[in-house]
Amino acid sequence: MTAAAGGTETVRVDLGARAYDVRIGDGLLARAGAEIAPLLRRPRVAVLTDETVAGLHLEALRAGLAGIEVRALALPAGEATKGWPEFTRAVEWLLAERVERRDVVLALGGGVIGDLAGFAAAVLRRGVRFVQIPTSLLAQVDSSVGGKTGINSAQGKNLIGAFHQPSLVLADVGVLDTLPARDFLAGYGEVVKYGLLGDADFFAWLEADGPALARGDRDLRQRAVAHSVAMKARIVERDETEEGERALLNLGHTFCHALEAATGYSGRLLHGEGVAIGCALAFELSQKLGLCSQEAPSRVRAHLRAMGMKCDLSDIPGDLPGAEALMALMAQDKKVEDGRLRFILARGIGSAFVAADVDGGTVQRLLSEALARR
Ligand code: GLY
Repeated sequence: MTAAAGGTETVRVDLGARAYDVRIGDGLLARAGAEIAPLLRRPRVAVLTDETVAGLHLEALRAGLAGIEVRALALPAGEATKGWPEFTRAVEWLLAERVERRDVVLALGGGVIGDLAGFAAAVLRRGVRFVQIPTSLLAQVDSSVGGKTGINSAQGKNLIGAFHQPSLVLADVGVLDTLPARDFLAGYGEVVKYGLLGDADFFAWLEADGPALARGDRDLRQRAVAHSVAMKARIVERDETEEGERALLNLGHTFCHALEAATGYSGRLLHGEGVAIGCALAFELSQKLGLCSQEAPSRVRAHLRAMGMKCDLSDIPGDLPGAEALMALMAQDKKVEDGRLRFILARGIGSAFVAADVDGGTVQRLLSEALARR
């Protein structure tokens, strides 16, 4: 990682011909033109965003892109956008705007927009370049980096998509100030995930500095984003298409995807909230399987609670289906192989691993117990 003038940091994702920089700093929207211009063959970009983000940040981006023609489409905000109807609308709009093979699409928004716009760029004219400008904490630390793009199916989340690496990521930590506290904390679930999966010191740092970071300290926020992105970059470099190690980034996600499906991808449970609950359940499962001490899941839940985050099924409002139904939802997860559930388990904080042979009965008992706590 290198620090550059103005405090902006750069994390290189070294993927040979598909290598790119993730720039992390305050005020990057205002400098977007200088950052993006080297990629452009003509002074024109197409921006995909959502209506909420457009209201907050599109004018600042336009100002930052002075001298570059900006065409923009704002889709409805929310997870429901990440499906075929809005995807079709976005692709048809890009074609109507005459976006050419050598042009660049900008994804301005959170994970929904980044995933949808990246997939649109992947298939448009068999692939155009795109730049991620993530505006949520979740997108800055996870979804904008690593090239996973796609949309949801009625059968489940992210089941339609492609690997398509961005050409540049601009993570402006200043825009995080506009996030509602709940969305910020949901993104923080993904930050905690990095500590839990591979860096106990980072988790300890979050235990100490997480509350100040959540209150708005920009330096701490930048440090957390840069560290998370650097961890993700190293994993993606070693395993771009998730043949092995990259699956560690799915810590908590098997539980999370089932809970998101069970709550109808609604405001009852945000993705990052599901990740946080999923991480706590993954540590509890690891402890039940005798892999880690009782202290580990307790410490995970204590930190999430101290941050004011959801950390158990009892924190999800409304009804949930039974353990058997949740198991059935997990069976649709992309991490199923030969009908067997793969889980990310842990031998302790910072020591996660991929387990392909988890006993379904133990998982179902864990879920029954968690449901009984409601
Ligand atoms: N969000 C998990 C990954 O990018 O692999």
